[in-house]
Amino acid sequence: MTTAAVICRSRTGKTRRYAEETGAHLQTRGVDVPVVSIGDCDMATLGDVDLLLLGRWTNGMFVVMQHPDQPWVAFSRDLPPIRARVGLFTTYQLATGSMFGRMKAELRGRTPEPEIELKWRDGRLSQADRATLDRFVAGS
Ligand SMILES: Cc1cc2nc3c(=O)[nH]c(=O)nc-3n(C[C@H](O)[C@H](O)[C@H](O)COP(=O)(O)O)c2cc1C
Repeated sequence: MTTAAVICRSRTGKTRRYAEETGAHLQTRGVDVPVVSIGDCDMATLGDVDLLLLGRWTNGMFVVMQHPDQPWVAFSRDLPPIRARVGLFTTYQLATGSMFGRMKAELRGRTPEPEIELKWRDGRLSQADRATLDRFVAGS
């Protein structure tokens, strides 16, 4: 069975909801997947999973300067060696700008290069998101 983990950082619950919907979709594809916040994450287990989805809210000046905050940077730097295929997600209000680039920069050399980027402004996990997740699970 494919194993996965969805790890998120959420302030007001939107990113958590997106993470839960992502996890629920992966379950329908037969993937065993806990959804946890970065603070509750058992880091040692992440080294063993096949798929790792990492997501957080977009933090910046709304049009520019998007970047992960200190708890996320600390989380990224504490990761054990990761063999999983990696995907990123973020929720936002106006623009994600440099968010994915900065998240990738923090992960570089610690995880394989992320394969997918999902972003969510409002609403629910879209059909396009589900299709992207399906391709990610299938490895195509
Ligand atoms: C300090 C702060 C900075 C933010 N910066 C941005 C930004 O640069 N671009 C953007 O689109 N949204 C920005 N947002 C909005 C959040 O990213 C958005 O509301 C997010 O979905 C909240 O997720 P959460 O409910 O999981 O905390 C910012 C919010 C806060 C509180």
